[in-house]
Amino acid sequence: MMVTGGNKGVGFGIVRALCKQFKGDVILTARNVDLGKKAVSDLNAEGLKPEFYQLDICDMSSIETLKQYLQSNYGGLDLLVNNAAIGYGIDSPVPFSERAEVTIRTNFTATLDVTNALFPLLRPHSRIVHVSSRKSKWSVNICSDTIQARLLDPSLTIEQLKEIIQTFVEYREFNSKDDIVVNACCPGYVDTDLTSHKGTKTIDQGAETPVYCALLPEGTDIRGKFVSDKTVQVWP
Ligand SMILES: NC(=O)c1ccc[n+]([C@@H]2O[C@H](COP(=O)([O-])OP(=O)(O)OC[C@H]3O[C@@H](n4cnc5c(N)ncnc54)[C@H](OP(=O)(O)O)[C@@H]3O)[C@@H](O)[C@H]2O)c1
Repeated sequence: MMVTGGNKGVGFGIVRALCKQFKGDVILTARNVDLGKKAVSDLNAEGLKPEFYQLDICDMSSIETLKQYLQSNYGGLDLLVNNAAIGYGIDSPVPFSERAEVTIRTNFTATLDVTNALFPLLRPHSRIVHVSSRKSKWSVNICSDTIQARLLDPSLTIEQLKEIIQTFVEYREFNSKDDIVVNACCPGYVDTDLTSHKGTKTIDQGAETPVYCALLPEGTDIRGKFVSDKTVQVWP
């Protein structure tokens, strides 16, 4: 299994927890090789044995290289945790248009690219976890009735969605293949760089709900859901 953005924060916590709980190889990916190897070395010091592989989710050649590595060395994939993301502070001086463009490119487009590229490698009963945020629920809630109706239309396609806000994944199509389960979740308010360390949860606590989604048992009916505090939430 593999976690994106595993070198720090919630992703690091997820790798740590899965090294303890997942019966299989755990691959910590990071865009920066030095930071990724340092994270692996820190976990080695705790007696844990994740592997490292470089992945910049915004770089298609990096995604393709990882895909070939997974195919050649593992013949497939059982679990994908899309954790990597960026966020701007509330008082960021960066213009909104730039923040929106950069955030969508990483948090939506690149996450979708990784998911689409690796999807053919998924074995039956695989799990995909999108580490999202409760803010996504709030964001839908403040949309107009018309946009909400379009966003929440069960037949909405990715192309249609890109036209609306270029965010979100049409997870329903993933949920039809071989008990492959796709869920999104919120880790809570976590003490990481992303929150300027104002979050109240530790990274290990922040990892709990993503790991809960990652290890859902065969035949689970929690699919295509939004989960926080290890509980399925009403969407939106
Ligand atoms: N912290 C919270 O309270 C909170 C609340 C709700 C949701 N979340 C979600 O939890 C997830 C993790 O957040 P966090 O708080 O742990 O953030 P963080 O400490 O800032 O860590 C973000 C991780 O994503 C990586 N990343 C960013 N862009 C990347 C790219 N293009 N390719 C590969 N990796 C990339 C970062 O790598 P670098 O080190 O190289 O930058 C880092 O490893 C995110 O999806 C976030 O939206 C967090």
